[in-house]
Amino acid sequence: MAEPVTLTIDGKSVTVPAGTLLIEAAKQVGIEIPSFCYYPGLSLQGACRMCVVAIEQMPKLQTACTTVAANGMVVYTQTEEVANARKAMLEFVLTNHPLDCPVCDKGGECELQDAVFRYGAAESRFLESKLHRDEQKFSNLVYYDRPRCILCYRCIRVCDEGIDVNALGIGSRGAHSAIIPNRDDHLECEECGMCIDICPVGALTSGTYRYQTRPWELTYTGTICNHCGDGCKTTLSVRNNKIIRANNRDHSGINGEFLCVKGRFGWDFVNSRERLKAPLLRREGGLQAGSWEEALTLSVERLKEILAHHGPESLAVIGSNHTTNEENYLLQRLARTVLGTNNVDHHRTADYASLVAALTQANADDRYATMQDVFAASSILLIGNDPTHQHPLLAYQLRQAVRQHGTHLYILNSSEIKLGRQAHLYLKAKSGGEAAAVRALAGIETPAAGLVDGGENALAEFRDKFAKEADTVIIFGDEIQGETVSHLVRWGLALPRQARFVALGDYANSRGAADMGLLPGVLPGYQPPAEAAVRQHFESLWETKLPTSPGRNLREILAGIDSGDIKGLVVFGSNPIKTFQVSAETLKKLDFLLVTELFPTETTAAHVVLPATSFAEKSGTVTNTCGQLQALKQTMRRVGTRSDLDILLTLARLFGQSWPYHSADDVLREIIAQVPGYALGLPSLLIGQAVSTQPKGTPPPLERSDLVFSARDSLFTSGTVSRYSWALNSVDEAKKPHGHIY
Ligand code: SF4
Ligand code: SF4
Ligand code: SF4
Ligand code: FES
Repeated sequence: MAEPVTLTIDGKSVTVPAGTLLIEAAKQVGIEIPSFCYYPGLSLQGACRMCVVAIEQMPKLQTACTTVAANGMVVYTQTEEVANARKAMLEFVLTNHPLDCPVCDKGGECELQDAVFRYGAAESRFLESKLHRDEQKFSNLVYYDRPRCILCYRCIRVCDEGIDVNALGIGSRGAHSAIIPNRDDHLECEECGMCIDICPVGALTSGTYRYQTRPWELTYTGTICNHCGDGCKTTLSVRNNKIIRANNRDHSGINGEFLCVKGRFGWDFVNSRERLKAPLLRREGGLQAGSWEEALTLSVERLKEILAHHGPESLAVIGSNHTTNEENYLLQRLARTVLGTNNVDHHRTADYASLVAALTQANADDRYATMQDVFAASSILLIGNDPTHQHPLLAYQLRQAVRQHGTHLYILNSSEIKLGRQAHLYLKAKSGGEAAAVRALAGIETPAAGLVDGGENALAEFRDKFAKEADTVIIFGDEIQGETVSHLVRWGLALPRQARFVALGDYANSRGAADMGLLPGVLPGYQPPAEAAVRQHFESLWETKLPTSPGRNLREILAGIDSGDIKGLVVFGSNPIKTFQVSAETLKKLDFLLVTELFPTETTAAHVVLPATSFAEKSGTVTNTCGQLQALKQTMRRVGTRSDLDILLTLARLFGQSWPYHSADDVLREIIAQVPGYALGLPSLLIGQAVSTQPKGTPPPLERSDLVFSARDSLFTSGTVSRYSWALNSVDEAKKPHGHIY
């Protein structure tokens, strides 16, 4: 590795790694050099000349964004010559740029406005008429205003290098140059809005935000996107109790500036008029609005009746992949200590329990990979899944890792996925054959010639090359579950270099639902109640006896409803009719069905429906698919709704329990104390950092394979809520066949 270099910038000495650009070296000593076309992580353009600096012994000014720092260099960023050059460049940029800051979306947060304020001339010498062109609608979500464009090419590069879509280009020449979309007059792309976010001026604007407000009229709250399992940090901008925009404003968190179309635009379901606004009770003539008191009292009465007549085994609870860790923790406690049953489960989209079991057994609970590890690894093995659709941030991280430091991406998949463009080696399994191919890789199954395209030779080449890699992250989707996870982990841990692991689950808190014990066979932290010490500990903590039955999993709960054994069902934020394709007739067999939801769904044809708050209206924590815990912060209020946490605390009180919690923070403190791997630093969480968890536990083996399955959402779908997003449904791309690649 080359020696670091030491140079002087504006009289300050700075030592930086060899190869560092002057613009980045200056940042190390707190000196900001203005720039338009430069953007960290993207290729260099050298187009705008705003970043010019004077360097001793060089006859002309140099661009700091393309000049590499060298030993002994003496750099000046604030001389009169530099200031005059910047002023001249700004005058040039402003020859055609309209001075419409008072009506421009970017006004108040525009890089050009800031630069002109600092370096620009007070008057313009340009008297000729400007080249006008009407604003163009590239898509429902992306608009382009040619006269405002300063041709910095950031949008083209982020779409090409960051998103790998190449939807933008440059058309015409000279003063007539303009950004053009890939389909003559419109865009066909992933609609991520990264080009809007990265545009330094108001040339690219958002279809959901444009002309709605000014940035200083908004209140900003940093929270976590509630769609997929990647856990992007996002700033929700709110005015008059309504979300107006989402972007990761300060670029902090695990995703930097990245958000996909769901995170950037798909929050509008929160504002939907179709949200449930009042509790609904089934009366003569169907569901009718009632008060919270009526609904909660009736629910407790009916559940008590069922308990009295049929016992706790006649009750069951289904939890959510979106509710917070605190809510999930309380929900399983309600099931076990109030209703007295282990019949509790949720839609499992990844086999996290098998990964925890395998790593615990191998004494390797430090081998969970974070989103940052994915970016930093020298090699990655991606098995199954299609991250472009199901895990857009992960896909972005993988592309950046390959592009920026040559990470070798190995893919094992039975389908063609877009990330194949970045693959170092692609092993194509036969349809649905990922698990068999993994067992063959691990030497468990004799590699039959028909397992992968190319047969045994291809498999052997893949295994041999991968085994020679330095550190690696092994990432797998729902295709790998149960025993196959153990084989994969054992094989990965036996590789000569360090391997870390990620299991990919679909939704914002899929991981947290499993970690908090929304599973029949385990308490929070994958601790089996069948073990005497575990049982005694929780019985003493919760001051009550725990149920002794093994509990029914989701398939068994549904079968129990069909057979009449399960009489009462409590569903928090889940839609089993749609997800598990249960017939509505099955749920009609229940004596009592209580559902908490945001919207009417197939499952809300219940006896009592409680309108729940969305992610934007409550606080708590969620755990992303890599096990990184992050804080959800309340952004706004929604009249008529209550959080699942409030609902659970009230239900427990009405059942005569005196739980020691008054807020999500009280529950979090118990989680930190009781859930192995969650003993983390609260301050880091409170300042908006992602904190890694490392669960350790001995869950029982996966009972059956149809318990773990991904919903295979596309870039434009997200379970129930995306049905109520105008933005996600408004773009033509959402109508393309699932898995379509741009
Ligand atoms: S929205 Fe995303 S995919 Fe579409 S052009 Fe912009 S950067 Fe490219
Ligand atoms: S649209 Fe924005 S990002 Fe793209 S070239 Fe113009 S000014 Fe730069
Ligand atoms: S990648 Fe996932 S978490 Fe990130 S913005 Fe998209 S949907 Fe949200
Ligand atoms: S920022 Fe250096 S030339 Fe544009």
